[in-house]
Amino acid sequence: MSKEVKFAEDFWWGAAMSGPQMEGTFDKPHENVMDYWYRTQKEDFFDGVGPEAATDFYHRYKEDIKMMKSIGMNSFRTSIQWSRLIKDLETGEPDEKAVEYYHNVIAECKKNNMILVMNLHHFDIPIELLKKYGGWESKHVVNLFVKFAKTAFELFGNEIEYWTTFNEPMVIPEAGYLCGFHYPKLVNKGEEAVQIIYNINLASAKVIELYHQMCNGKIGIVLNLTPAYPRSQSPEDLNTSKLVDAFYNRNFLDPAVHGEFPEEVIDLLTENNVLWESTPEELKTIHDNTIDFLGVNYYHPKRVKARETKLDCDLWTPEQYYEEYDMPGKRINPYRGWEIYPEAIYDIAINIKDNYNNIPWFISENGMGVEGEEKYRDENGKINDDYRIDFYKEHLFQLERGIKEGSNCFGYHTWTAIDCWSWNNAYKNRYGFIGLDLTTQKRTIKKSGEWYKTVSENHGFSIEE
Ligand code: BG6
Repeated sequence: MSKEVKFAEDFWWGAAMSGPQMEGTFDKPHENVMDYWYRTQKEDFFDGVGPEAATDFYHRYKEDIKMMKSIGMNSFRTSIQWSRLIKDLETGEPDEKAVEYYHNVIAECKKNNMILVMNLHHFDIPIELLKKYGGWESKHVVNLFVKFAKTAFELFGNEIEYWTTFNEPMVIPEAGYLCGFHYPKLVNKGEEAVQIIYNINLASAKVIELYHQMCNGKIGIVLNLTPAYPRSQSPEDLNTSKLVDAFYNRNFLDPAVHGEFPEEVIDLLTENNVLWESTPEELKTIHDNTIDFLGVNYYHPKRVKARETKLDCDLWTPEQYYEEYDMPGKRINPYRGWEIYPEAIYDIAINIKDNYNNIPWFISENGMGVEGEEKYRDENGKINDDYRIDFYKEHLFQLERGIKEGSNCFGYHTWTAIDCWSWNNAYKNRYGFIGLDLTTQKRTIKKSGEWYKTVSENHGFSIEE
């Protein structure tokens, strides 16, 4: 028996990418933190590959947008790089070459009838601002980000209908200050992480306020929502999962949608004397300037249990309240080490419907990174990535369940359209519908790209039950 998995006729079928991972560093007036990290510590990057050329979207955007259109994409997200657009980081004065480049990309999207979602920050703070002011720890940097956004809105605000302030803001404190896998590679710096969480929420609200004063489209935020499932239904495990959810998901989701931080987080931070510095005016800005729509990046769940051993650390850190739970029998993508659990998409959809005003939302990233895809290339040169098609089908099936139950989801973006550079993993794991030959920059549509075209044309697909 086969079953139809169907979506609305105006559903977005697209993919996400980001400036720093696609464009290459050509003509940039500043280095971002990732450019700097690579220049100074190449050994951290898979095969020593850096962002200089990346996927060369900077020069090839015309053919790339056309190719994306040819695989059925009607929308895509990318980002404006702060370190590219802004020549003078203190005043917000733009760089002329960058202005021309972004105008051209926007025009090309229009020509191809492609909905563009423009994001303003994808882990890519200009390195000077990290070195000079401590990056997102500083409220001066918050104000400089607002200047950057103002310049972007003045230049392109009414040419683009959908904007987002940040991509996965939690990754900045988590990867850079708690777990140490992104530059500045600090560990257990809970107090700094907490201030960064607050400052980014403030920056997002300030930019939303400005946008609504200056432009007529819609503005949102892209969050990596990682449902926290408890090991068991014991009160200890349940409380642990609630706290992990509050800290890692709701610390951005609640202010973005409801204008307020989770109470249990405020209580916990206050008890430990590590609450962020805030003012009543700032809290009012956060309260009054919430998002118009939400982007959700979903890759894998978080499985947690109550701590069994005390964390050996004198500093305050959220990790002292939980341990990762290695669930027996879980499905894993061995290349990335992430659990595959499509059902979480349904849970996210229902959570947004029930607890977040059923706000309009879309899946802004979902994908499967695989190493060594060359071995799946056939005699005609096509990569037969059936595993990726299966991955997407399973996730879309769960998304459709959520939509049928009333969740207000209007689109699906995968990560990503064309294989791209991925921070320190560089080009290890490939995610694209379109494969990239790193030496020749030749692009070839994979089997999943052909499949996506049929899905977009038919507004869905059928599965065997
Ligand atoms: C998301 C990011 O977290 O996941 C992307 O928004 C990233 O920038 C993607 O590339 C895939 O993760 P990774 O680490 O495998 O590149």
